[in-house]
Amino acid sequence: MKRHLASGALFALILSGCGSVDATLVTRPAGSTSFQGDRAELVAAGEALWNDNSLGEAGVACASCHVGGAQFKDTFTEPYPHRVAMAEKMSGLASIDAEQMVQFCMIVPMKGEPLAWDSRELAALAAYIDDVEQPNFATK
Ligand code: HEC
Repeated sequence: MKRHLASGALFALILSGCGSVDATLVTRPAGSTSFQGDRAELVAAGEALWNDNSLGEAGVACASCHVGGAQFKDTFTEPYPHRVAMAEKMSGLASIDAEQMVQFCMIVPMKGEPLAWDSRELAALAAYIDDVEQPNFATK
């Protein structure tokens, strides 16, 4: 799937250091807005993206790692924003929200580009995480 960059200049900073992700890549730029849409439609679109193995460059889907709540740690039961070990270690972020977590997994395990901050895809994946994956994990 081809998608445009939120910012070419920012993207040049990606993975500049081994094993690190520039925090600006996973931080919503000041003044940017989120895509607004019908919640149920966003959640449905998010589920399709979650299972789409062409979303990043690694040939895997979000679901490839996270099926049945796999790979999530206990932090995922806490309301966002919260600490996520991988984001703290690689970007120095003390806490992170759902859309930042989408961007983080897009860049690191999916080996792709971060989604545009105003994109329907980002809003859809964040909505799907909030409404489906997180409640399912919390009740496991
Ligand atoms: C190659 C495996 C892999 C893939 C593919 C992957 N992730 Fe992750 N993801 C992880 C790992 C590992 C963690 C645990 C990070 C931690 O807790 O330190 C994680 C954590 C998460 C969390 C929970 C973090 C928390 O505690 O709040 C969310 C949400 C998430 N990923 C979303 C996604 C999305 C969206 C995609 C697809 C765009 C995706 N992941 C693709 C490996 C993967």
